[in-house]
Amino acid sequence: MPTFDIQQLQAELAQKNPRIILKKALELFDNIAISFSGAEDVVLIDMAVKIKKDIQVFSLDTGRLHPETYRFIEKVRKHYQINIDVLTPDRDALDSLVKRKGLFSFYEDGHQECCGIRKVEPLKRKLAHLDAWITGQRKDQSLDTRQDIPEVQTDTAFSTPEHPLIKFNPLLNWSSAQVWDYIEAYQVPYNELHEKGYISIGCEPCTRAVLPNQHERAGRWWWEGDAKKECGLHAGNLKK
Ligand code: ADX
Ligand code: SF4
Repeated sequence: MPTFDIQQLQAELAQKNPRIILKKALELFDNIAISFSGAEDVVLIDMAVKIKKDIQVFSLDTGRLHPETYRFIEKVRKHYQINIDVLTPDRDALDSLVKRKGLFSFYEDGHQECCGIRKVEPLKRKLAHLDAWITGQRKDQSLDTRQDIPEVQTDTAFSTPEHPLIKFNPLLNWSSAQVWDYIEAYQVPYNELHEKGYISIGCEPCTRAVLPNQHERAGRWWWEGDAKKECGLHAGNLKK
């Protein structure tokens, strides 16, 4: 773990463009990985491989992703010739949930329990072995939970007293339009679901296409109404 002052680093990176933030993150940390969701944050991978060849990338395979997303993860792996660490949920915890509540309990009692097992626990396991991680979070993804995210932060949700964890959000100030301009300009591969009206893509049962001008997160966990739509990966956003 390098020594640095997080406040000074944040001041240095404030309002900088994604490439500069990413470059700094990769220079500062060897043991750092990109958290890749199979949606448009492939832009981070595209930028990172141009900075450093051997980047670490992981993806949380909840077991409930769309077939298009699995195909896309594979496409990205081949396109950039990188390893993608595809993480699976703990088998016992998952067996127990499905046995107790079936395969669609989230429609009845909310997504937190299922997300906890299929996403958060595998993420926690992965982050325990990293010094820092990089996410594709953007402010414009959520008006109520992502407006205050900084370029770099101590991850309050996953740090422990023995193991502080740093989180970089290089795309935070980019709009969805800027991400798509980049994808087009650099011929970056994308998830074919985006051609079918999907914007924000999560698991298949919990994601749907949105109507023109509907906010992208309206297509995530839509049956839960206006509740703050975070699944626990970015739980630190909710505490503020
Ligand atoms: S979520 O918390 O609501 O699911 P969202 O889909 O907005 O997250 O994605 C925000 C960022 O979280 C992504 O850019 C990515 O870095 C990370 N992320 C989300 N889902 C996954 C996943 N399945 N695997 C790895 N990273 C993910
Ligand atoms: Fe389960 Fe839905 Fe969360 Fe995926 S998004 S882990 S299916 S509740």
